[in-house]
Amino acid sequence: MRLAGIIFSNVTKMLDFYSQFNPSPLSIKQFIDFGLNACEKKSYLFLRKELPVRLANIMKEIALLPEHLLRMPSVGMVNQWYERSFQEIIQFEKQEPTPTTLTEFCSRLVHIRNRHADVVATMAQGVLELKESHEVDAGTEHSIQYFLDRFYMSRVSIRMLINQHTILFGEQFGQESVNGMGCGGRHIGSIDPACDVVSVVKDAYENARFLCDRYYLASPELQILQHGVASTQPMPIVYVPSHLYHMLFELFKNAMRATMERHEGAPPPVVVNLVRGTEDVSVKMSDRGGGIPRSASDLLFKYMYSTAPQPSKSDAHNVPLAGYGYGLPISRLYARYFHGDLVLISCEGFGTDAVIYLKALTNEANELLPVFNKTSSKFYKPSVQLADWSGPVHNLNTPNQNKEKAALQKARDKAR
Ligand SMILES: Nc1ncnc2c1ncn2[C@@H]1O[C@H](COP(=O)(O)OP(=O)(O)OP(=O)(O)O)[C@@H](O)[C@H]1O
Ligand SMILES: [Mg+2]
Repeated sequence: MRLAGIIFSNVTKMLDFYSQFNPSPLSIKQFIDFGLNACEKKSYLFLRKELPVRLANIMKEIALLPEHLLRMPSVGMVNQWYERSFQEIIQFEKQEPTPTTLTEFCSRLVHIRNRHADVVATMAQGVLELKESHEVDAGTEHSIQYFLDRFYMSRVSIRMLINQHTILFGEQFGQESVNGMGCGGRHIGSIDPACDVVSVVKDAYENARFLCDRYYLASPELQILQHGVASTQPMPIVYVPSHLYHMLFELFKNAMRATMERHEGAPPPVVVNLVRGTEDVSVKMSDRGGGIPRSASDLLFKYMYSTAPQPSKSDAHNVPLAGYGYGLPISRLYARYFHGDLVLISCEGFGTDAVIYLKALTNEANELLPVFNKTSSKFYKPSVQLADWSGPVHNLNTPNQNKEKAALQKARDKAR
């Protein structure tokens, strides 16, 4: 009992210590430069500080979550995973980089990655548990939205660091596969210096189409354009293929579902236009699936709202194109992670354009990371927001937003 108390207070101290540091964002260029001259010792020395810093920064924010959310069993479980992983990494704090330590560190990272595999779904479950057991006011909802964006982004970044190290220095050097995307050959960790956007588009399309065919017994065709002209020539960029795939797969599922719901008979194609500019690479996916009302557009990236209609577990295999509503918000995080973005522009009554923006230059593709400080802490304090414009306040409890929620909910239910 006493020993447990001492360990606990020691971990708390270490958390305080590491959370004082800001995470150090890396650019794709830095990941590549480092990977080309890969030195395991250097990577170890960097990660044994950077990983606890990133973990501590987000754990401090977890601690600021509303009490009743923290008490939800799933959130408690996630919290414990983070505490355990933090403790395991700080054990290396003073260990010299001997060959044995380096091997232990690498396998510890693999272990941690596996432990955290279900974090997204478990946290989503925690939010559902809260919604089912408590009335959630607008302020709390706002804090949770703010937190989840930062929490999931932090997780993307920690996985990126772990993947780079374990792929470069793990046992299956250069051959390991992350998220199903091959990482051998020319790959530098999980980055492909010649990631062909056209191939990733086709791959994501085929997999979404498979689900669509199974559900609707038909699916829209794909048209690929480059700078507005039909072309399937390769378009290589330096990027993490698994991230690009994730975003495209989610967008295709949404576009196909909307298209099939609106068109019986011959569904119009989904058109993807790829454009490489000086600063941005833009991937625009256009569907003619009837679009989204403007009043509902603010809700598309909301987790709290999205998690509301929970499909029952037995439905899991029958609902191929609609899940928990995390598709768009998580995809936008992937886009933003390297300072890109994801935006939706819809014409209700016609269709939707979804655009993924990526940085064209590797030195501008910097990690975007949450930093724990006084400013971020403020977002967790309940506050009453007064409207400084007339009309509906963008607060989920206003009657108007309830109408918007109902409209989006109806669209979703129909799709299910
Ligand atoms: N291209 C689109 N056309 C019409 N409505 C769309 C389109 N993309 C998204 N939506 C609307 O936005 C909602 C949110 O999309 P999102 O991908 O985040 O969640 P989901 O598709 O409901 O579930 P999940 O993606 O987790 O399986 C969708 O349910 C749908 O109502
Ligand atoms: Mg979706």
